[in-house]
Amino acid sequence: MGEIIINPNEKQRLFFESEARYTAYGGARGGGKSWAMRIKMILLALNYPAINILLLRRTLGELRENHILPLQKILCDIAEYRESQKEFRFKNGSRIKLGYCDAESDVLQYQGQSYEVIGLEEATHFTYFQFQCLTECNRVSGSMKKPFAPRMFLTANPGGVGHDWFKRLFVDRQYRGNEKAENYAFIRSLVFDNGYIMENNPEYVEALMALPEKRRAAMLYGDWDSFEGAFFPEFCREVHVCRPFKIPPHWQKFCGLDYGLDMTACLWIAVSPEGRLYVYRELYKSGLLLSEAAKKIREVTPSGENIRYTVASPDLWNRRQESGKSGAEIMNAAGLTGLKKAVNERVNGWRVVREYLKDGEDGKSGICIFDCCENLIRCLPLLRFDENVKEDAAGTPHEITHAPEALRYALMSRAPKSVLPEKKKPSYAYSFEGARPQKESYRSIIDY
Ligand SMILES: Nc1ncnc2c1ncn2[C@@H]1O[C@H](COP(=O)(O)OP(=O)(O)OP(=O)(O)O)[C@@H](O)[C@H]1O
Ligand SMILES: [Mg+2]
Repeated sequence: MGEIIINPNEKQRLFFESEARYTAYGGARGGGKSWAMRIKMILLALNYPAINILLLRRTLGELRENHILPLQKILCDIAEYRESQKEFRFKNGSRIKLGYCDAESDVLQYQGQSYEVIGLEEATHFTYFQFQCLTECNRVSGSMKKPFAPRMFLTANPGGVGHDWFKRLFVDRQYRGNEKAENYAFIRSLVFDNGYIMENNPEYVEALMALPEKRRAAMLYGDWDSFEGAFFPEFCREVHVCRPFKIPPHWQKFCGLDYGLDMTACLWIAVSPEGRLYVYRELYKSGLLLSEAAKKIREVTPSGENIRYTVASPDLWNRRQESGKSGAEIMNAAGLTGLKKAVNERVNGWRVVREYLKDGEDGKSGICIFDCCENLIRCLPLLRFDENVKEDAAGTPHEITHAPEALRYALMSRAPKSVLPEKKKPSYAYSFEGARPQKESYRSIIDY
């Protein structure tokens, strides 16, 4: 019979004893979050026979390093690990299943399943949609003899795609709809609470102290305000999303395309006579070869709909080793004509998107998205700031970047004068003002 001897610090003890429906722990680096999460899951498995536990991290690599290997070490004489199911089976019938949710939709694999306890490690790496889906699986599984109130345990540091929802629920404690304050507990812990590190690894604390100011405030002192949240705080569903309407045939139309085998994101955009842009259709599909993506884009475009051009990322013009042809040539041969190279200046491009999201002088934003374009609407508010490049958006989670990139390419082809770099100003005129724009308003900088 194996034995586990534990010596939790004061905050970890509070975490173990919490009876809230949702208990979050941490807020800064190195406080002993992962240790506490692992031990809590083991204690629950040992103390509640036949309990079903799900422990998640965002990626498989993180899960293996952070939990599977350490759990295998601790549980070698206590529970059997089944690699194919990624789960630990205890003699009393309890089960700890380990999983990950790399892509947004990976969470759907848990739909219909039931876990009395769900542990979400680095919860700020999960989107709100994923968190919500998981709360639906957090229910009694029917295998336990004694009644057990389902619970979720979360650990987190500031930053990441889930920064805003985590901060709202656990730090700011602002609740909406059916959410009840008493269901949410937050135990704040810092590296200083972790006696193990303070004693054995004081250099780690010094490394945290040497971080740049904002990052230090977040990672050492758990300051949730020092991290910038959404990359596009100006995005607002009420303002930027509208019900579809029939686009008059004479409105100019063009497309923005971000192609990748992992995801083809294409947006169809129409220009109103006032110069307002309407994103009226999206294609969002993974696993398409270049020729298939081209065909799909053509298929989705009704015959007779005149698309003036499709602007795509410049790397589509790189020659492929296998065929000697560029992606653009392959797409062109598959029937997608009118392809144009996007101006891929990231920071300027995002500024252009920001400019369109802002209200114009008529009080209306420069862009509106039909509510059928659900991936663009989902991903725009999820984008976060890159921690290293000022004014750029973070490239992770990668899945949420495709639709915004397609939008960036598209809008950069119609960049408002005010946000273009100095050198480009003389050759371009675009204005939100006036009922009817000047002819050149419709010109694209890629035409030059
Ligand atoms: N009560 C404890 N007893 C023994 N070791 C502990 C205890 N708490 C934490 N540790 C050890 O301290 C180190 C850091 O802890 P842990 O990895 O859990 O921190 P963390 O808050 O998850 O860090 P990060 O922010 O980097 O994810 C690990 O080696 C862990 O095993
Ligand atoms: Mg950790």
